[in-house]
Amino acid sequence: MSHHHPRHLLAVADLSAAQLSALLDAAAAFKADRDALGQPLAGQHVGLLFEKPSTRTRVSTEVAVAALGGHPVVLSAGELQLGRGEPIADTARVLSGYLDALCVRTFGQERLDGLVAHGSVPVINLLSDAEHPLQALADLLTVRERVGALAGRSLAWIGDGNNVAVSLATAAGMLGMRVRLACPSGYEPDARALAAAQRAAADGGGAVEVGHDPGWAVAEAVAVATDVWASMGQEEQAQERERAFAGYTVDDALLDRAAPEAVALHCLPAHRGEEITAAVLDGPRSAAWQEADNRLPTAAAALAWVAGALPDPEPRA
Ligand code: CP
Ligand code: NVA
Repeated sequence: MSHHHPRHLLAVADLSAAQLSALLDAAAAFKADRDALGQPLAGQHVGLLFEKPSTRTRVSTEVAVAALGGHPVVLSAGELQLGRGEPIADTARVLSGYLDALCVRTFGQERLDGLVAHGSVPVINLLSDAEHPLQALADLLTVRERVGALAGRSLAWIGDGNNVAVSLATAAGMLGMRVRLACPSGYEPDARALAAAQRAAADGGGAVEVGHDPGWAVAEAVAVATDVWASMGQEEQAQERERAFAGYTVDDALLDRAAPEAVALHCLPAHRGEEITAAVLDGPRSAAWQEADNRLPTAAAALAWVAGALPDPEPRA
């Protein structure tokens, strides 16, 4: 990887719509043939740093690094001096001397900015409080596989306007989807993130709207997505959130109001009986398991892109 102008993937908006499409194509190619993207990480060492728990992201990214010929170095914050208060700036500076790229799951987006500012290698966001860009790639690959071309189709988000919601709404809007989020009052996406998603969607021929009525959101939707009501770091709010999110469960009755071909998305882990019923998550309209599978090819595509191994498409006129 070039260390002179490292490419970062901190948020979906770091990609153009053309790059986002190219990443989905690369992921599909990798899924069909593990050798399709070559070995762009051969001889390279990629750090995977986790300040929060992870199952899917941790394993899919580790496998993706290895599949592209690289060596993953998995790091838990609690086992690093970072967990004892060594500044992130110092950590970034030191790790940049050993590693060719750093993939990080953390809290505030400013921690990622700190790694970029004080390190010298590419940084990929593996989930922050603000965004989960690799999840959005997997989600859109899944929708494309299940219902076909994305532009002009509708996608609904039910529940918390959280990190996963922001990344998915931004990415779907950029590719021309009409996105409706139904969130309880006070749990809408961050205003600045929403405005940015709306601008990106307008550029891509899509739209992002926020309301409070799940029935409004799912009308005509080909994908109905949700996520936990209390994200990592919000555990102490779980009870008040359970009250606030009453009526925002994705169940069969709600899916029946969406398009006939609609699938349910959930990034997992799920709380059956809260944000999604067991009948939906484990039923025929669930795409959640395919979505989890798609974390691997999309992680591979993102790593290849950051490594400069994917041809860079011209932005759409
Ligand atoms: N969807 C997702 O990011 O799962 P993990 O927290 O298990 O990585
Ligand atoms: N919104 C959730 C997603 C977990 C993959 C969280 O941040 O905890």
